[in-house]
Amino acid sequence: MKKSLMISLMVAALVCVFALPAVIAGNAPADTMVLKAPAGAKMTKAPVDFTHKKHAEDYKIDCMVCHHKATDKNAITGCSVEGCHADASKAAKKDPKGFYQAWHSKKSDASCVACHKKEKKAGKKVPVACKECHPKK
Ligand code: HEC
Ligand code: HEC
Ligand code: HEC
Repeated sequence: MKKSLMISLMVAALVCVFALPAVIAGNAPADTMVLKAPAGAKMTKAPVDFTHKKHAEDYKIDCMVCHHKATDKNAITGCSVEGCHADASKAAKKDPKGFYQAWHSKKSDASCVACHKKEKKAGKKVPVACKECHPKK
């Protein structure tokens, strides 16, 4: 084999090794995220740790259960974007589309609290009390 061909093959192999994980990770969610109120909104509670990867992979919850308005897995946005749960004002606290209900609704399967209440009934160890999700403060 020609030396120049060898070198090109080696370079190609290296590109694969380093670029592939990035491609696979592409739309993959972060391991653990810290959830906060949208910019500009006052936070009265401690930020919430959320084990995103565990929920998707270990607890095997389909992406679309939580990202219920996304058209597909590759078109997922955050929850508090315009048109969704963006309104963090006090007036919107009871609005199903408000920021607060995104996490605490007792009716929507997409909400942390609703799903956890269901899981708790089924005997799972899940946080349902305020301070279990909002630890400090
Ligand atoms: C148990 C609920 C839940 C499941 C299941 C879930 N996610 Fe998420 N995901 C969230 C929450 C909550 C956020 C944070 C959104 C925010 O900060 O507004 C998030 C954020 C994201 C983001 C970043 C969005 C942005 O632009 O801020 C992407 C991308 C994402 N998830 C993709 C996925 C994919 C792909 C799956 C399935 C493999 C998945 N999620 C499964 C709840 C979930
Ligand atoms: C559709 C169901 C569902 C939704 C929605 C959901 N969870 Fe969970 N959650 C689970 C299940 C199932 C477990 C783990 C049960 C077990 O231990 O097998 C869990 C466990 C947890 C735990 C404890 C274990 C760990 O992984 O740290 C935390 C904290 C948690 N969830 C936070 C959240 C937050 C915050 C949200 C909303 C952003 C949320 N969850 C939304 C189903 C859900
Ligand atoms: C299963 C987890 C979970 C439980 C239980 C929970 N929350 Fe939350 N809460 C969240 C998430 C996620 C957010 C959005 C991220 C943030 O604002 O930190 C949030 C946001 C909030 C906010 C708006 C932001 C702020 O800091 O002012 C308030 C107020 C709040 N929660 C109060 C409560 C109260 C009161 C309880 C108990 C009745 C409670 N939460 C129980 C997960 C939870």
